[in-house]
Amino acid sequence: MFFNKKTRRNWHLIKGEPITEMDRKILFFQDRGKLCPKRSLIKTPEQIEGIRRSGVVNTGVLDLVAQEIHEGMTTAEIDKLVYDYTLDHHAIPACLGFEGFPKSVCTSINEVVCHGIPSEKEVLKEGDIINVDCTTILDGYFADASRMFIIGETTPEKANLVKVAKECLDIGASVCTPYSFVGDIGYAIAKHAHKNGYSVVRDLCGHGVGLQFHEEPDVLHYGKKGTGMLLVPGMVFTIEPMINAGDWRVFVDADDGWTVVTEDYKPSAQWEHTFVMTETGLEILTY
Ligand code: MF3
Ligand code: CO
Ligand code: CO
Repeated sequence: MFFNKKTRRNWHLIKGEPITEMDRKILFFQDRGKLCPKRSLIKTPEQIEGIRRSGVVNTGVLDLVAQEIHEGMTTAEIDKLVYDYTLDHHAIPACLGFEGFPKSVCTSINEVVCHGIPSEKEVLKEGDIINVDCTTILDGYFADASRMFIIGETTPEKANLVKVAKECLDIGASVCTPYSFVGDIGYAIAKHAHKNGYSVVRDLCGHGVGLQFHEEPDVLHYGKKGTGMLLVPGMVFTIEPMINAGDWRVFVDADDGWTVVTEDYKPSAQWEHTFVMTETGLEILTY
């Protein structure tokens, strides 16, 4: 017999130490059957500073890509920019070698949802929309962010998808207050996507981040308010909605085992930031 998620009691008092205000608040929710974080998910101020420093390099990488990206460039050239800049700043590209991923960054064009592999054979052309997703490790701390870029001029449909996907990220972040739930984020994101006639990818999600690439909790971009993990000050996680112009269903390219593509081949857009929950709300660590 196994405990199910509902009966998992992750939060424990520390023997011999006084009960804090945070303990009281978390236990209030845990006693009502809510999923609470393990204590190890609450980062120390020192760890948060480390992730913030990693975020500065990560932002520098994406700013460089923003400056350099152009029609006629290959995605392998983007990969080289990311690799060189990251190493020049005494950091490591987390993607390189992660579960066998062969490059330093993910480049996902048009109907590619995420995890696109940079290639010398892939040339950016006018009208493409591309997500560049970069994770940086500095002194052991992980920061993860991605942006969309539009190559030259694109169709109004694709431009609007890129815009609404960004709004989904911003709205998801804005509803996130201390002692709210992961499900509140997903609810707000899906509502905004659907209002615009778009769908939300369900098979991939955001995640805790900072000391490892992917930590608890899973940050789903759809869902019900008041469900999922309780969000407590000190938690660090990404929000990274993948918004599809057509159906939400996706598949993984069997040839490379990585590239995630929309089932109907309609375009998809994604933006991502790493955030820390503070006493007053979310703060972005990848600006
Ligand atoms: N950066 C992606 C994320 O947001 C993960 C990429 S894993 C890789 O979680 F191996 F494809 F690089
Ligand atoms: Co991520
Ligand atoms: Co990412």
